[in-house]
Amino acid sequence: MCGIVGYLGGRDVYDILIKGLHRLEYRGYDSAGVALETPEGKLNVYKAMGKVSNLEAFCRDKDLRASVGIAHTRWATHGEPSDNNAHPHYSEDGNLALVHNGTIENYKVLKDALMQHGVSFHTETDTEVLVQLIEYIKLTNGCTLIEAVREALGQVQGAYAIAVLEKGHPEQIVAARKSSPLVIGIGEDEFFLASDATPFVEYTKEAVYVKDDEIAVMRRGEPLRLLNLKNEETTVDVTELNLSISQLEKGGYPHFMLKEIFEQPATLHDCLRGRVVEHGRRIVLAGVMDNEDKFRAAKRIVIVACGTSWHAGLLGKYLIQELCHLPVEVEYASEFRYNNPVIGPDDIVIAISQSGETADTLAAIQIARQKGAFVYGISNVVGSSIPRETHSGTYIHVGPEIGVASTKAFTGQVLVLTLLALAVGHLRGTVSDQQVAELGGWILRLPTLVKEVLKLDKKIKHLSAIYTYARNFLYLGRGYNYPTALEGALKLKEISYIHAEGYPAAEMKHGPIALIDADMPSVIVAPSDHLYDKIVSNVQQVKARGGSIIAIVSKGDTEISKIADHVLEVPVVPECLTPIITSIPMQLLSYYIAINKGKDVDMPRNLAKSVTVE
Ligand code: G6P
Repeated sequence: MCGIVGYLGGRDVYDILIKGLHRLEYRGYDSAGVALETPEGKLNVYKAMGKVSNLEAFCRDKDLRASVGIAHTRWATHGEPSDNNAHPHYSEDGNLALVHNGTIENYKVLKDALMQHGVSFHTETDTEVLVQLIEYIKLTNGCTLIEAVREALGQVQGAYAIAVLEKGHPEQIVAARKSSPLVIGIGEDEFFLASDATPFVEYTKEAVYVKDDEIAVMRRGEPLRLLNLKNEETTVDVTELNLSISQLEKGGYPHFMLKEIFEQPATLHDCLRGRVVEHGRRIVLAGVMDNEDKFRAAKRIVIVACGTSWHAGLLGKYLIQELCHLPVEVEYASEFRYNNPVIGPDDIVIAISQSGETADTLAAIQIARQKGAFVYGISNVVGSSIPRETHSGTYIHVGPEIGVASTKAFTGQVLVLTLLALAVGHLRGTVSDQQVAELGGWILRLPTLVKEVLKLDKKIKHLSAIYTYARNFLYLGRGYNYPTALEGALKLKEISYIHAEGYPAAEMKHGPIALIDADMPSVIVAPSDHLYDKIVSNVQQVKARGGSIIAIVSKGDTEISKIADHVLEVPVVPECLTPIITSIPMQLLSYYIAINKGKDVDMPRNLAKSVTVE
């Protein structure tokens, strides 16, 4: 969701910005633009609705010379997607150009005040208010750009990551952040700026994550300066990036999503590395070990997350309740933050987020901290905001996930939650050494078992052709596979735009059963578990109403295989590990149906990978 790129240095500025925008495409956007300042200090802005390739086509005959530049992909919030509303935005006299990620909540009040002072506006965006405000302050106070930015940010409520160029200053970028990500890459006599490190990973491994309320001043030939809103210098913490360029490429697959589905044996292996030791007899989760007293004393766990991460959270509830005998609540972060949550020092709040930047999850964390809870983060992106805002946590280490629809991050999150439940259960005495050894052994085999599941690829591809034109789908499961069914349905709707609903199988008879007919297929997730016999009767109820059934069952299944129209067999694993195994056929089914429909699976319409606004 909105991407920022900036570059100051001796390379081809336009080329770096465009490549960077392409890298950030996965975040989701609907228009793009670039501001280039020529060595003589002329400030040019070019913008185009649609893909970055449209911007490139638009720029073909333009003056692309530059010593410094900033660029942006916009995901519309205030004002429709259009050339005009795209960033960068000029200030009234054209002396400043600004890109912004986030939302300015009090933009209306600020805009009215500026209009009263004679400033006119040319777009519907909240961002234009910010650039006009900065210019207005600069002109009225006769101050420098840095002072004007600082003063303007003091008046702004909301979330922002910004970068500003000033006409006549081709040696400088001024940037700032609050609640929206921004990272600076430091090279030899050059600076990179971006929403995440992917645009500059091939140029430098030295990164500085800008913190909330910090203003960054990048000047050619000078070291990076960071200032807080009180104009005090803050420390520049340089982090070594652990990201390689090959992780950001498709590696021979037609889409990132397919690559990421097939990477899962390797990503689960990476996620496990060093955490399940002594042949499965011991779970080593530093975040839990460092906070044993907290996990021992906890009276309740509250999980907050959004989207796919919320589904992983729901699985976390089943795992923690079974293995730790602790009550668990799972909340959408967006609801939790406004629901007067009753949280206190006896609670542990677990925040789950692939990107580590989801605005609602970040806000939920802040509330939980204010109320005295211990907050534990489960995230994928090292150095992102959520790991920094939480007291402790665990990275899932599945590598960059580029496809907007989450796949390998979901299985990584579920695996970390499984390890956490086992480690905490062992600590609290609800899981024996023998149980750890038994489940630990199975967990170590998961990468191999997932490889086995991926062999269903051809069968699922074939099957997808039969269901490409279905208009509705029902996904049913019970127990551990109820959240899996929810996730299966979400995957399908995200990328194929087919309406799909996930439901606890037994609840179907309280409503959705009315929808079932020959045109509404059901995917039923029914591995051999303690609810198997129960789900058999749910399957019969669907069949009796003429619905067709795709069943995901354990190898050797007899009952459901007789009733279902199509059967996908997965390896037998202990009940609490089934979600990792059963979710994979559903990922493939969604992928192939979307491909058959000619959809853009990696960048589905309207969706964003990193949801940095409310
Ligand atoms: C967006 C993405 C989803 C993701 C959700 C939560 O909606 O498209 O794939 O599950 O945000 O993101 P997070 O980064 O917090 O896991």
